[in-house]
Amino acid sequence: MWRGIIHAYRPFLRIASIDPITLHEGNTPLLQAPRLARAIGFSGSLYLKYEGLNPTGSFKDRGMTTALTQAIAEGARAVICASTGNTAASAAAYAARAAIPAIVLVPAGKIALGKLAAALAYGAKVLAVEGNFDEALALVRRAVEIYPIALVNSLNPYRLEGQQTAAFEICDQLGRAPDWLCIPVGNAGNITAYWKGFRAYKQAGRIPSLPRLLGVQAEGAAPLVLGHPVDRPETVATAIRIGRPARGAEALQAVQESGGRFIAVSDEEIMEAWRMLAALEGLFVEPASAASIAGLRRALAQGVLSPQVEVIVAVLTGHGLKDPEIALRTLSSPIPVQAQWDAFRRVLEPIIEKSVPITSPQEVRG
Ligand code: F0G
Repeated sequence: MWRGIIHAYRPFLRIASIDPITLHEGNTPLLQAPRLARAIGFSGSLYLKYEGLNPTGSFKDRGMTTALTQAIAEGARAVICASTGNTAASAAAYAARAAIPAIVLVPAGKIALGKLAAALAYGAKVLAVEGNFDEALALVRRAVEIYPIALVNSLNPYRLEGQQTAAFEICDQLGRAPDWLCIPVGNAGNITAYWKGFRAYKQAGRIPSLPRLLGVQAEGAAPLVLGHPVDRPETVATAIRIGRPARGAEALQAVQESGGRFIAVSDEEIMEAWRMLAALEGLFVEPASAASIAGLRRALAQGVLSPQVEVIVAVLTGHGLKDPEIALRTLSSPIPVQAQWDAFRRVLEPIIEKSVPITSPQEVRG
């Protein structure tokens, strides 16, 4: 039975050896995506690591099981974080599991509905900060210097201990490391954790070679592409609306060591990739997650990736149900129909004629 990432990868994780605080996170699918690969002009094998299938709907759960386990081992009485939403929901869930309170700071009005609803449901104290993520994180960092509460942002090293297990899983599922790993970057903890994980697996002799990293940022929030902080980050992908990534320096070093690249993509490119993931592969993700595909598409078009590349893994960081508003705002509305046969038929027939070439209702039934 799968019992979460700590149980599965304990020898690789430097954390306290108490019983884990877990929701059995991890063990997410690695799906091949041939239609999407063709559509973005890639002839090798493209795989998607579907992290939206973690217990609270994002990859954050991998780092939260380790952060909360360590916090409990060290006697923490409460946890705190700043968040664009997913960290908040995950911290709230794992704190509930650990029976301690969670305080989460989110940028007012800039957090997707599903994340806010979840954080509230798990019982966190949710503080809506009149400012962006970077400002909220600065407040939290100051608070933990004064008060006896544990910080569970990815500045906390135990978050990275857990998040590196996604790299382990990819290697275990593929039987090798990919040639390239495409990953959206906000506060830069996750890309740092993946690189740590791949390096640890190579050192342990589990994989012969390391992947190159393609770190993807949104154009309006791309400090690691621009080479300087962004004071007023803006993007439709609210999860990565971050201008001063706390682990930016480490992420830059990881990408450089890997022989990879940072790349920025527009909101339009992100939304196009978001639609393609759902329509071509049946994967409904949140916009930030689609950034990895938008970045890959752009990198292919610009010749950043050589045509010899065989295996690419793109990380889909969060579930689409986190951000239902973006779907309703950008896609066509449902077609209203009266609950009567004739009225229904008048609406139905043109739809059927457009999608399946038929001549009579008889053939449809057959
Ligand atoms: N994708 C999603 C869905 C995210 O929620 C985040 C970060 C990222 C990608 C980027 O990961 O920050 O480690 O570079 N969300 C954080 C949060 C900031 O508060 O939920 P990163």
